[in-house]
Amino acid sequence: MERSRFLLSILLLLGHYGCIYVAKSTLGTGAAQTNITTDQGALLALKAHITGDPENILVNWSATTSVCNWVGVTCGARHLRVSVLNLSYMGLTGTIPPNLGNLSFLVEMRFRNNSFHGTLPHELSYLRRLKLISFGYNNFMGIIPLWFGSFPKLQSFNLYGNQFSGSIPSTIFNLSTLQVIDLSENQLSGTEGTKRNRELNNAERDVPEVQQFQRALYMHKLLVPVLGHVPVGVFNMSSLTTLNLYGNNLNGGLPDNICQHLPSL
Ligand SMILES: *[C@@H]1O[C@H](CO)[C@@H](O)[C@H](O)[C@H]1NC(C)=O
Ligand SMILES: *[C@@H]1O[C@H](CO)[C@@H](O)[C@H](O)[C@H]1NC(C)=O
Ligand SMILES: *[C@@H]1O[C@H](CO)[C@@H](O)[C@H](O)[C@H]1NC(C)=O
Ligand SMILES: *[C@@H]1O[C@H](CO)[C@@H](O)[C@H](O)[C@H]1NC(C)=O
Ligand SMILES: *[C@@H]1O[C@H](CO)[C@@H](O)[C@H](O)[C@H]1NC(C)=O
Ligand SMILES: *[C@@H]1O[C@H](CO)[C@@H](O)[C@H](O)[C@H]1NC(C)=O
Ligand SMILES: *[C@@H]1O[C@H](CO)[C@@H](O)[C@H](O)[C@H]1NC(C)=O
Repeated sequence: MERSRFLLSILLLLGHYGCIYVAKSTLGTGAAQTNITTDQGALLALKAHITGDPENILVNWSATTSVCNWVGVTCGARHLRVSVLNLSYMGLTGTIPPNLGNLSFLVEMRFRNNSFHGTLPHELSYLRRLKLISFGYNNFMGIIPLWFGSFPKLQSFNLYGNQFSGSIPSTIFNLSTLQVIDLSENQLSGTEGTKRNRELNNAERDVPEVQQFQRALYMHKLLVPVLGHVPVGVFNMSSLTTLNLYGNNLNGGLPDNICQHLPSL
């Protein structure tokens, strides 16, 4: 038993160096010449993509009012650029335009409890200052893109209560700043999990010691559907306090030593 754990650890390490697909993160154009007019343009593009605003909340999102006074918008004191966009609980329906990637000083993006739908544009990955993403309880769909692993300061990542599908991208487990990951109540799955469970059960049968390595390989494969291609034994997320994955179609298992690498969990 101890021996197979040891072999598994070796395998996970091998996985780290051999099997991980490293997402090349799209570097933002944050250094480009932008100003508050850029932010205004991005938010007006968002407004143009909002098809439902039953309480007419965005009425003062217009050029006659200064952007920093728009409802749901907060500007940072230092740069006088949009730092917080909070459209939570506003009953809005719409999609997210790529222009939001122009809000280069954005720190918090809160869209909770609306009816935003569609997929997320990759331009959002330009938002290098983001610390909080809150897209909970909307109707977003598609896979969780790999570029979610490219936010160097991200602390809280909430996509719960949407229709995201596919597997969990390994890149998000590479963010040492993350404190909260909540992907619950989506349709995330490890489609190959059931087949691999069966393979594992076959491998469980009394196997000669020479085949232990093979067995460890099966165990590694079993983890893949759960946590993407992450060799859980090697990631280092000392800040992570919350990992919430309930209400999905995930199967497989979690490694025994998960807590060693997630000391704050
Ligand atoms: C993880 O982060 C390191 C350092 O920030 C980076 O070099 C590496 O490419 C990242 N790996 C993935 C899978 O994103
Ligand atoms: C922002 O920059 C554009 C050109 O880059 C300029 O036309 C505009 O007046 C600037 N806005 C402010 C508020 O400085
Ligand atoms: C914009 O609308 C919000 C809510 O309706 C209000 O609190 C805010 O004062 C308005 N801003 C201006 C400049 O009228
Ligand atoms: C975001 O806006 C909603 C609705 O106005 C409000 O209830 C909530 O407290 C705001 N959240 C933050 C963190 O300001
Ligand atoms: C904002 O973003 C859009 C779409 O991503 C882009 O076409 C446009 O050039 C950007 N505008 C500015 C002022 O940066
Ligand atoms: C937020 O959305 C969830 C799921 O649709 C719902 O159960 C909850 O009542 C909503 N909360 C508020 C304050 O609207
Ligand atoms: C893990 O991350 C913490 C905080 O980011 C850092 O201080 C520590 O050196 C890292 N440990 C390893 C083994 O990379």
